[in-house]
Amino acid sequence: TYIIAEPCVDVLDKACVEECPVDCIYEGNRMLYIQPDECVDCGACEPVCPVEAIFYEDDVPDEWEPYVSANADFFDDLGSPGGASKVGKTDLDAAFIKGLPPMNS
Ligand code: F3S
Ligand code: F3S
Repeated sequence: TYIIAEPCVDVLDKACVEECPVDCIYEGNRMLYIQPDECVDCGACEPVCPVEAIFYEDDVPDEWEPYVSANADFFDDLGSPGGASKVGKTDLDAAFIKGLPPMNS
């Protein structure tokens, strides 16, 4: 799967959402998250993010390793809804992400 990391926080550009053929990029309050079971690893989202927040799971920089589990844990309650557009924004960001200072400088 692909992973979204900290550069997305408070940016939420959503260019990635437009590219994803399976609508598997879901919105939290601070950033977006990729549903690992729904992602088909097409790679279409990665190059379009203006802040380079998206990585293949094996290529996530060490400093953003917590975002690998944060992307998975976002779906503990949501499960696999089969499409982000019908779910909309949900307040399920991980606690450490909720606690980040505002990033929209
Ligand atoms: Fe975030 Fe980049 Fe998508 S800022 S919403 S990962 S295009
Ligand atoms: Fe979607 Fe392909 Fe990215 S399935 S999340 S656009 S790798």
